[in-house]
Amino acid sequence: MNEPSTIDPPESAPDRRRLLTWLARGFLSLWGLGFAWLVTSFLKPPRSQRSLTQRVIELGPLESMPVGRARMVRHGRDPVFVVRTDESTFVGLSGVCTHLRCVLTWDEDVSALACPCHNGAFDLSGNVTKGPPPRPLTRYRVETSLGKVYLHL
Ligand code: FES
Repeated sequence: MNEPSTIDPPESAPDRRRLLTWLARGFLSLWGLGFAWLVTSFLKPPRSQRSLTQRVIELGPLESMPVGRARMVRHGRDPVFVVRTDESTFVGLSGVCTHLRCVLTWDEDVSALACPCHNGAFDLSGNVTKGPPPRPLTRYRVETSLGKVYLHL
């Protein structure tokens, strides 16, 4: 009357140990990858800092910029205005209002940059002439060389 045993064989300890070792190695590998990514991110300069380093943009020949006119140039996401004030003088000014960062417009009639948001205004030196902006605009160097205009950012 011997019946065959229906009891499963006991779980073997070496298999469980191998599984736990495999899981521990997996977690450690993930942790190592995360740590390496963190160190790399820390050491790498921010993207905006790299893209805003000193740059020179060629704006074209002198004749392409008439006296009294302004041209808007993009610097990253921010606009910069380049204005030709006379035959040999150019002015580079940020196109972002210092009040609440609205984009300025060039008012050719009064030779000034105007802010459409709260009626602020800036002269060709970047100084506030009207409205709530708390400080002048950032200025950029503009120079000419061999008949071409260059904006230094
Ligand atoms: S954002 Fe330009 S005056 Fe307010």
